[in-house]
Amino acid sequence: MPSADDMKKAAAEAALEYINSGDIVGVGTGSTANYFIDLLGRIKGRIDGAVASSEASAKLLRGHGIEVMELNNVGDLPLYVDGADEATQHGYLIKGGGGALTREKIVAQASEKFVCIADDSKLVDVLGDFPLPVEVIPMARSLVARYLVDLGGQPEYRVGFVTDNGNIILDVRNMRIVDPKDLETRLNQMPGVVTNGLFAHRGADVMLFGGASGVEKIEV
Ligand code: 5RP
Repeated sequence: MPSADDMKKAAAEAALEYINSGDIVGVGTGSTANYFIDLLGRIKGRIDGAVASSEASAKLLRGHGIEVMELNNVGDLPLYVDGADEATQHGYLIKGGGGALTREKIVAQASEKFVCIADDSKLVDVLGDFPLPVEVIPMARSLVARYLVDLGGQPEYRVGFVTDNGNIILDVRNMRIVDPKDLETRLNQMPGVVTNGLFAHRGADVMLFGGASGVEKIEV
């Protein structure tokens, strides 16, 4: 039985086939995305550069000698590759376990194709067992937390964590998310919320799940 890390690596490797020569690739954040970055390092001659969804990924990419570009300077991207904390077969995701949700959402939105890579433990029927990360402007922390309680959630302040954008994260437990698009919209309307970790309006186009018997591909 392969380990979860082996499954993540296998999913990352399968994502390489979506890269075309000369692409500027959008790159996600987290342990699975890190495996993808390592693989990108091996084929870096085939790509023109990358746009990173976090300072951490940018540093890793540069460490492999890959040019990290500003999204503002490159316009739309052909491809975004990133992991997920939970995924449904419709391509709806919870992301942000690593706290990079806002930049991840920006790069995903700017990309023609979003390929999600994960081990198959991330595939669920209904989102919400994994606490939903919400990035919040610091002064709105209590206001937004009360709103999340009104919605039935149990928000928890991610102590000691500051996002790349200088904000805080509330992780929301107790959400059984049956309508991800609706909840994503409602959360985004609350003043003080920068982004929430639901990727439903712009979910994954392709999901590659590493498992015991290889990589399963789901096209949405
Ligand atoms: C970071 C993310 C990651 O994609 C998510 O947390 C999955 O991470 P991992 O690949 O380590 O399981 O959204 O903000």
